[in-house]
Amino acid sequence: MQNIEWGSLPFGYFKTEYNVRCYNRFGTWGKIEVSSSEYINIHIAATCLHYGQEAFEGMKVFRGADDKIRIFRWEENAKRMRRSAEGVMMAEVPDELFYGMIEKVVKLNAEFIPPYGTGAALYIRPLLIGTGPQVGVKPADEYLFLIFVGPVGPYFKEGFHPVRMQIVRDYDRCAPLGTGHIKVGGNYAASLKPAARAKKEGFASVIFLEAKEKKYIDEAGPANFFGIKGKQYITPDSHSILPSITNMSLRTLAKDMGLVVELRHVTVEELGEFDEAGACGTAAIISPIREIEDRDTGKVFTYGDGEAGPITTALYNKLRAIQYGEEPDPYGWTRIIE
Ligand SMILES: Cc1ncc(COP(=O)(O)O)c(C=O)c1O
Repeated sequence: MQNIEWGSLPFGYFKTEYNVRCYNRFGTWGKIEVSSSEYINIHIAATCLHYGQEAFEGMKVFRGADDKIRIFRWEENAKRMRRSAEGVMMAEVPDELFYGMIEKVVKLNAEFIPPYGTGAALYIRPLLIGTGPQVGVKPADEYLFLIFVGPVGPYFKEGFHPVRMQIVRDYDRCAPLGTGHIKVGGNYAASLKPAARAKKEGFASVIFLEAKEKKYIDEAGPANFFGIKGKQYITPDSHSILPSITNMSLRTLAKDMGLVVELRHVTVEELGEFDEAGACGTAAIISPIREIEDRDTGKVFTYGDGEAGPITTALYNKLRAIQYGEEPDPYGWTRIIE
């Protein structure tokens, strides 16, 4: 085990010993390579550099209360990465290769898996890029799939604290029939400017609206939005939202806690009807929201008294406990890496 201050790690890049790589050339996957380099040697005309043939994933591995290493719903990340690959015409990574490479890179970097009780986890970043050269706008003949990992700290340094978010209308992260539903770099490039402005203006993140009508909530930065109204868990449905695996899991937990789950359009006005609100994703599970400000109208929606609401807290605790093996996993979401 490395001598790292696990409890004060940020959510950021951390150099570990190894990463794993595999090339697809003219439709055939090669052998898994292990590397200690943090760099890739890439063709100057690679399609990932010019035409955005790029997709990534984000997932975590947890050291549990029983000291076992658990990975959370990796099949869903594999499926989503295949959808991303298909969406921008890249070679698709088969499940066996996806999991085989995760298992390998996690085992190789076992000493970087944070101890139980620190709130930290090992973050896994699979990346698929077009490495073959093209000058005309065409898909590449060669792809690189690589995975690097790194320990990341608890997302909330001060605990599970509610944040402020800002609704914007002068930026969209994706087009209505564009690539918002898949995890490709261009969506994130489009989100950088409004996110930086929101930070400067005192908000944790931006809430994007559905780009065509600007009436409905799409996403909360790099996370899905949900609201709690009485006994309802309500989360937006739209082609331009990335289907969050955390949100998918929270919907199941909410249903099993007796809530009614609704996946549908959510208007900006409806924000005034929620008792609790949150943003969900792998990094934090849930960022509870205490305030949403509409940048254009100045209208402010507030939730709770500065603490996360009871349903948000119960959902967060339940999912966290399953991930750390503190509670049984009746859903089969975790897999133990032996
Ligand atoms: C745009 C966007 N939405 C939602 C999410 C949350 O997805 P997940 O719960 O699978 O991490 C992410 C993070 O991957 C994201 O980048």
